[in-house]
Amino acid sequence: MAILVAGGAGYIGSHTVQELIDAGKEVVIVDSLEYGHQGAVLAKKFYKGNIGDKEFLKKVFRENDIEAVMHFCAYIEVGESVTNPRKYYNNNIVAGIALLDTMLEANVKRFVFSSTAAVYGQPEKVPISEDTPTLAVNPYGETKLSFEKILKWYGEAYGMTSSVLRYFNACGAHPNGHIGEDHSPESHLVPLILQVPLGKRASIKIFGDDYPTRDGSCVRDYIHVSDLALAHVLAVDRLIAGKPSITCNLGNGVGFSVKEIINTAREVTGHKIPADIVARRAGDPAELIAESDRARRELGWKPKYHDVKTIIATAWEWHRKHPSGYGDR
Ligand code: UFG
Repeated sequence: MAILVAGGAGYIGSHTVQELIDAGKEVVIVDSLEYGHQGAVLAKKFYKGNIGDKEFLKKVFRENDIEAVMHFCAYIEVGESVTNPRKYYNNNIVAGIALLDTMLEANVKRFVFSSTAAVYGQPEKVPISEDTPTLAVNPYGETKLSFEKILKWYGEAYGMTSSVLRYFNACGAHPNGHIGEDHSPESHLVPLILQVPLGKRASIKIFGDDYPTRDGSCVRDYIHVSDLALAHVLAVDRLIAGKPSITCNLGNGVGFSVKEIINTAREVTGHKIPADIVARRAGDPAELIAESDRARRELGWKPKYHDVKTIIATAWEWHRKHPSGYGDR
């Protein structure tokens, strides 16, 4: 029996496929390659297509013996979600429901969902537990939160069990050097910083240094992508073992400021990496740090990469060897 990984050619999807293969699982990838990369397709079985296309999806379910689905196909740009919300509702909700409904028609009822710390909006205190009230403050977060609720009701009505994994800040690259982070456009802090030593940008912008944090810049919980990936393997095994639905935060539980991340990247790369303080970016909470005891307790998850320097070093290794990413954009 196989695990269907929708969005398996993307950043977190491809790292999860690697962990699934390492765990001896059979994997079927579905990806439209709109944002994913052919070079990140690690499974032998790959179907190019969109999860919103039910006829296409039905064929995938007909041709394979699928026991569970992982869903990594969402659009992720917060800013774009504000200016073009229909793009986000159509993909993250409408296409996602087509995936769920096709699963039900094929009698596949185990689902692992990529959610996000964005469902907490601007939380009043950190660390953030899963019981913190959710309040999305942009359409991206709203689509993720809505989908979580859809999963809850699909569970009650149709017996679908799900693992909702709320990621904090994914970064780094697989230590084998074959897969890494390549978004276009790129908006994430670590790859943007590394574009400076790669000679692709003159400096990095720090979005605000007047936040109520230790050095005034925003604090985030940076988690290595392979650790995130491992949590998916544990989460799917838990569902296959017949356990009930669960929602888990995934983070290291330690916060680093933007300035600290830039300083660490300077150490790792040996490059000066000039930085300019600019205005705050709209919608950025000052501090997001996960409490992820539930994932450790219920999934048996133990992140391997605690040290942010090691995390950035894995990213640097990949970007140095692949300065144009997968080279397909
Ligand atoms: N930042 C800069 N300069 C940059 C880019 C980012 O200072 O050029 C700062 C941001 O203001 C933020 C921090 O670096 O404080 C991290 O920013 P990212 O864009 O890398 O990550 P976010 O915390 O904004 O986003 C992450 C996920 C999103 C998710 C969001 C909220 O990548 O998918 O958390 O949970 F929506």
